[in-house]
Amino acid sequence: MTFDNDPQINGIGDMLISSRSLDEYRAMFTLTDNDLSRRILDCPGGGAGFTSEVNRLGGDVTACDVAYFDNSADDLAAIATSETDRGNRYVRAHAEQYAWTYFTDPDEHQRSRHDAAQQFAAHRRRHPERYVPGRLPVLPFTDGSFDLALSSHLLFSYTERLDHTFHLDAITELMRVTSGELRIFPLVAVGSSAPYPRLAELLADLHARNIVGRAVKVDYEFQRGADHMLVCRHAPSTAPS
Ligand SMILES: C[S@@+](CC[C@H](N)C(=O)[O-])C[C@H]1O[C@@H](n2cnc3c(N)ncnc32)[C@H](O)[C@@H]1O
Repeated sequence: MTFDNDPQINGIGDMLISSRSLDEYRAMFTLTDNDLSRRILDCPGGGAGFTSEVNRLGGDVTACDVAYFDNSADDLAAIATSETDRGNRYVRAHAEQYAWTYFTDPDEHQRSRHDAAQQFAAHRRRHPERYVPGRLPVLPFTDGSFDLALSSHLLFSYTERLDHTFHLDAITELMRVTSGELRIFPLVAVGSSAPYPRLAELLADLHARNIVGRAVKVDYEFQRGADHMLVCRHAPSTAPS
């Protein structure tokens, strides 16, 4: 692994390469069947099973992540599995920081994330073209390449290492490659239950770039307090075609 190795972040350690499932993505982002029929970008895709599962169902999803630069499908599968265990150890040790409604217990959390990592690995081996290396705030896609962009557990999750300007530029870039909308989840940092403190300022800065964002409550909460997504759209008549 060659991306940042900053010191501990709120006790969970280095940034996780996590592996969430389609089912978890559906819940986090309130995805409908109609949403899943659109051209979707998942950035960062990490070791998520989302791209694999939706493409198997006939969908059109591309994942993008900085971890795809240096790691083969097999290497990243091994990393994603050990990262799942690292995240699960943290969850077990801090069970009170989590709501046990989506997952009933830490065993189910571990099983779900392991399954997603396996799905990711198998799919990336067969369809490497669906896993594009990229490093926000710059993406290797032309304007309006996607109808819907999803971004989970990077923006707002690691605010100790990713500053306000990074958030503004990353969201602007995700919107450049999206003709429809961008959904970001969650709005709280790892180890915290309070929303991003500069959200109002960020929304104003985005507005100045013709991007309209609003926080929307979702029916999913695992990390306590993490039950909102940010939905961004182009201001009328500024959407890329
Ligand atoms: C916690 S994982 C989330 C993965 C996936 N969205 C999920 O929910 O399972 C965070 C991911 O962000 C990726 N990442 C970190 N910095 C990035 C950057 N500047 N651009 C793109 N991806 C980045 C990491 O490689 C890691 O896979």
